Amino acid sequence: DALEQRVRAVVDAHRGDRGALLPILHGLQAEFGYVSQDMVPILARELNLSRADVHGVVTFYHDFRPEPAGRTVVKICRAEACQSVGAEQLAEHAQQVFGVKLGQTTPDGSVTIEQVFCLGNCALGPAAQINGRMYGKLDEHRLDRLILNAEG
Ligand code: FES
Repeated sequence: DALEQRVRAVVDAHRGDRGALLPILHGLQAEFGYVSQDMVPILARELNLSRADVHGVVTFYHDFRPEPAGRTVVKICRAEACQSVGAEQLAEHAQQVFGVKLGQTTPDGSVTIEQVFCLGNCALGPAAQINGRMYGKLDEHRLDRLILNAEG
């Protein structure tokens, strides 16, 4: 089927690489935006690995998203400098407002809330990235507004 064909095209592009599974997974993440469960058996078959092996690698690295991201992706920094100026509260707030945990997407597919550890914006914490744009000195109110605007 179509999924299988697209997955196999990514596999073929990396087949010669040493330790091909990781480059393939990164390739899938780039191509699809996620690495889903239904890709695991295809990869296992193509690479002669067990499904458990493939699944283990996919879940071990947090780089791989298990499902498509929401239309708005919010990455909240939870590293030390931002923590010391209120990042935890901000993360807590965002989870409550959208009813999801860090790493999850709202059921309607509108917003994904994620944590990151340092965005290189430490002097201006708490920092977050919304759809790839950096914001600093955030408070709950401003975060809500930015997310709403990004969605609109
Ligand atoms: Fe948050 Fe560096 S600690 S941006």
